[in-house]
Amino acid sequence: MIRDFTEDEARRALVLKWGTVDPDVLPAWVAEMDYALAPPVAEALQRAVTDGVTGYPPALVNAALGEAYAGFARRHYGQQVDPEQVLPTSDVTAGVRVALDVLSEPGPLVLPTPAYHPQFGLGHCTDREIWELPLDPDAGEVRLDLDRLDDLFSRGATTLLLTQPHNPLGHVHTRAELEGVRDVALRHGARVISDEIHAPLVLPGAEHVPYLSLDGTAEHAVAVLAASKAFNTPGLRCAQIVTSDPAARNRLLAEPMARNDSWSPLGEVAAIAAYEDGDAWLAALVARLDEQRTLLDELLAEHLPEARVRPLEATFLAWLDLRAYGHDDPATVALDKGRVQLEAGHRYQPGLDGHARLNIATSPERLTEIVVRLGRALG
Ligand SMILES: Cc1ncc(COP(=O)(O)O)c(C=O)c1O
Repeated sequence: MIRDFTEDEARRALVLKWGTVDPDVLPAWVAEMDYALAPPVAEALQRAVTDGVTGYPPALVNAALGEAYAGFARRHYGQQVDPEQVLPTSDVTAGVRVALDVLSEPGPLVLPTPAYHPQFGLGHCTDREIWELPLDPDAGEVRLDLDRLDDLFSRGATTLLLTQPHNPLGHVHTRAELEGVRDVALRHGARVISDEIHAPLVLPGAEHVPYLSLDGTAEHAVAVLAASKAFNTPGLRCAQIVTSDPAARNRLLAEPMARNDSWSPLGEVAAIAAYEDGDAWLAALVARLDEQRTLLDELLAEHLPEARVRPLEATFLAWLDLRAYGHDDPATVALDKGRVQLEAGHRYQPGLDGHARLNIATSPERLTEIVVRLGRALG
C-alpha cells in the first residue's frame, strides 16, 4: 500500500527535500516522506481540481473539517472533540503563532529543547523572549524538568509550547508526564500550546495522549495539529487549531482577517480525505516506519556502532548522538564526505555538538545506502 518514489519521482514531487540538493546527494533532512500520496487523498484532490475547487475556502469554520477531525480523534485517541471547536489555520507554525498572539498573556515562552528549529523564531515573530527548558542529551529517558518549568513560570513565563510527540527526539510524552505539566500550568495560571502534528505517527509500543484529553486543561490549552505530516501534504496549507473552551474559540474567531493565516481549499479537501478515509493507508505507513526503525538499528549496529539513537516512539525522524566520532558538526561531514543531507543537531539545540537528525521515511534500500555512506564518512 505504501508506494516508494523512484529517485526521479521524488525529485519531481518533493521539490524542497530532493530538488534543492545536488544530484549525487541522498536527502534525509526535511520532514517529508519519499512515498506516493495516500490514494484516498490523491483521488479527492484530483476530483477537486477537476471541479475547480480553487477559490477561497469557506470563512473561519468548516463543519466538514471539524466533523472529519472529531471522527479521527475518536477512532485513534478515544478523544471526544467538539467539531465546532476545530478551526482551520494555514499551517501548524502559523497556528502556534496565532494562538500565542491571540490567547497568551505577554511574557516569555518556554520551549523545551532540542526543539523543531522554526519554533525558535516564534520569539521574534511574537515579540517574546524564548526561555529554554533543556532536555538532557545524556539522560537515559526524556523527561520534562517540572521543577524548572515551575521556576520559569514563577519568574514570569506565561506559556509553554509543548511538542507532543516530540520532534526531534521522537519521544511520546506519557500521561503521567503530561499530568505533571498540567498541574504546574494550573498552579501558575499559565497557557499551554500543544503542537501535536506528529500524533498520527505514534509507532507500536507508545500511545498518544492528546493534552486536551486531560481533565482540567480546557481553559488553559489549545492543540495545533494537521494531517499534513502523516499524509505528506504540508504544501497544501491547512492545519487546525483545536480548543475546548468556547471563550478561546470566540477570541480566535473575532480576530480580523488581517491576521492573514488563511488556508487553502485543497488543503481542506486533503485533510478531510485523510481524516475520513486514510486509516488503512496510515496503518500501512506506521507498519512501514516500524520496519524502518528496526532496520535503522540494525544498520547502525553494523556501520556506525558508536552512534546512540533515541528510541523512536513516534515520527520518522531519528535523533542521532554521534559524539563518539569526534565531529562537532557531523551533518557537514556527512554531506561533504558521504553525500547525505542530514539536519544538523545544533539547529535544534544551539550549542549542542555532535548530533544530527536523520529522516527514515524512505525505502529500505535507500535507508541502507544512507547509513552505509554515513558509516564511511563519519566512522
Ligand atoms: C513539531 C513540528 N511542528 C510544526 C511543523 C511544521 O508544520 P507546518 O508545515 O504545518 O507549519 C513540523 C514540521 O516538521 C514539526 O515537526
